Amino acid sequence: MPTFAGAMGWQLARMHARVGDALQEMNAMSDPDRAAQRTLDYYRLNAEAFRDGTRDHDVSQNIDALLRHIQAPAPLRILDLGCGPGRDLKALTARGHVAVGLDGTEAFVEMARADSGCEVWQQDLLQLQLPTESFDGIFANAVLFHVPSAELSGVLARLHEALKGGGVLFCSNPRGQDEEGWSGDRYGVWYSWPSWRARLLAAGFVELEHYYRPAGLPRAQQPWLASVWRKASRG
Ligand SMILES: C[S@@+](CC[C@H](N)C(=O)[O-])C[C@H]1O[C@@H](n2cnc3c(N)ncnc32)[C@H](O)[C@@H]1O
Repeated sequence: MPTFAGAMGWQLARMHARVGDALQEMNAMSDPDRAAQRTLDYYRLNAEAFRDGTRDHDVSQNIDALLRHIQAPAPLRILDLGCGPGRDLKALTARGHVAVGLDGTEAFVEMARADSGCEVWQQDLLQLQLPTESFDGIFANAVLFHVPSAELSGVLARLHEALKGGGVLFCSNPRGQDEEGWSGDRYGVWYSWPSWRARLLAAGFVELEHYYRPAGLPRAQQPWLASVWRKASRG
């Protein structure tokens, strides 16, 4: 039977753990680079399992949503932001487009290059260096939610600059009620539609469409929020 002192000790240990978690989350918000590095460490340590577990994910609905809004003539130049091991680089190339990958996880960059034959850049989302007005489309599938909220407007500004006039940004993120913090060893923000929409409009994007995934299920069983945006053409 637990003694009073034993029970108190256990309570104290739990309080300590909670305070520890809260401090870690505060740290991540005040130090986004550490949040990004720990998240990238997670992907580095789990790179092969992630590739094997996601290789057959069908995101053709998302690729279609990006491509149907691009008005430029094919072949299109598409940036796959946070391309992971390269599944969607292959799909975009198979459709006749010129796809360029970008990811912060070195193992994914190597896998994606080897598997797709595409050019793939290793960059941290928080330190993006992209050519100006270079892409007809940007495909950001399950990646932008890893950007700490304080850094999102800067990242969106760089994506906006990297698109040609009239270019299209596709994003898909796990949705929520604007919670922010750690999910295991990955940092994330679970945006609601109104907050996500406000962020994209503030970055100068024009709304095209949004939908929930997987298709055909009740909303409660659709954890993904996909949205498509245009950079207005000049003049
Ligand atoms: C959930 S995975 C999605 C991968 C791929 N787009 C897909 O749909 O399967 C998130 C990706 O974002 C990348 N990532 C996370 N944080 C990053 C950061 N700070 N800089 C660059 N890439 C990052 C990871 O390496 C990983 O490839």
